[in-house]
Amino acid sequence: MEAIILAGGFGTRLRPLTYTRAKSLLPIMNRPMITYLLDMLPEEVDTVVLAVNYRKKQIEEYFKSYDCGKDIIVNDEPTPLGTGGAVKFAQQHITDRFFVLNSDIICSLQLEKMILFHEKHRSASTISLWPVENVSEFGVVDVKEDGNIIRFVEKPRPEDAPSNLINAGAYLLEPFVLDYIQPDKLISMEKEIFPQIIKDTKRFYGYQFQGYWMDIGRISSYLQVHEMLLDKNNMSQMIGTNCKIHGRVDRCILGNNVFIGKGSMVTSSVVFDDAVIEEDVHMDRCVIGSQSTIGNSTRLHNVVVGDHEVLSSESSYENKPIWTQQIPEGYPQKQIGNVIGE
Ligand code: GDD
Ligand code: MG
Repeated sequence: MEAIILAGGFGTRLRPLTYTRAKSLLPIMNRPMITYLLDMLPEEVDTVVLAVNYRKKQIEEYFKSYDCGKDIIVNDEPTPLGTGGAVKFAQQHITDRFFVLNSDIICSLQLEKMILFHEKHRSASTISLWPVENVSEFGVVDVKEDGNIIRFVEKPRPEDAPSNLINAGAYLLEPFVLDYIQPDKLISMEKEIFPQIIKDTKRFYGYQFQGYWMDIGRISSYLQVHEMLLDKNNMSQMIGTNCKIHGRVDRCILGNNVFIGKGSMVTSSVVFDDAVIEEDVHMDRCVIGSQSTIGNSTRLHNVVVGDHEVLSSESSYENKPIWTQQIPEGYPQKQIGNVIGE
């Protein structure tokens, strides 16, 4: 059985971290986000198709030395094809019923149970569902008590949302669904394909699960997922290897080789490998990119600093992304992904 992992988005809402790295390789508790999805895969899945384009070389490179016990195929789209186009582009690797997973989700979904649910309902497509308060950034469903979905609306205005249950980004699809997607075209699974399958088959189901779910779409959710995982693991912080800490650190995740100078106070933040926080820095709710330097006596609150940045001494910033280098060629000005065309 195959699983397609959709990992080709630019991650524009996670700028500037995604100017230098694929979203799916962003560290969560010091390991790439995509490894959490690989851990979730049931035994039945023997082949993983990574649907990539932006920063595909980084992803390829990472998987040269990472063994998850499954065959990994890096399927490189010539240009971003959207969530539907990317699934179609993986068709040659699909042999039967298959999973599709968004790559920016951390959750407690058990895919084995989703297979049983799918079989029980003789479903054409089963998607995972999760309740949220603010539905407008998600795909929202109208679902009957038995799980049958009768409407799917991607990113509705709050007043148009049929419920508070959203598409949680994991799908189990029968292979004929691929016939609905035209090849080599930019197509959104959520906007174009799901509504059509509902209409034609009436066998589109939603599977609700218990536990936790988080979409790492923004810097705020990136910080939030770390808080959640610290709590879940009963940890007050996580410190990588070879760190030198001369100040105070509380509820932080530090990568490897991080230096924290005397008198500095770092709280509720994520600091990537090889970053240097000099002396008397106060930093709260920040993400600091790899090999960046934060100069003496700097004050930062709710700030994200890209990789390889240098903040001079006594800087002070709040609620701000910091990036002074060139934006990579081809990186979109605004969010695209599955909302292309809006
Ligand atoms: N290969 C490939 N090509 N992957 C893509 C492309 C593409 O052109 N565009 C987006 N992706 C990947 C992203 O990397 C991500 O893993 C996944 O597809 C979904 O794209 P996002 O851009 O993260 O979409 P979203 O978060 O706005 O909405 C999606 O996820 C929500 C749950 O988090 C939708 O599926 C919503 O319906 C859903 O509720
Ligand atoms: Mg997303």
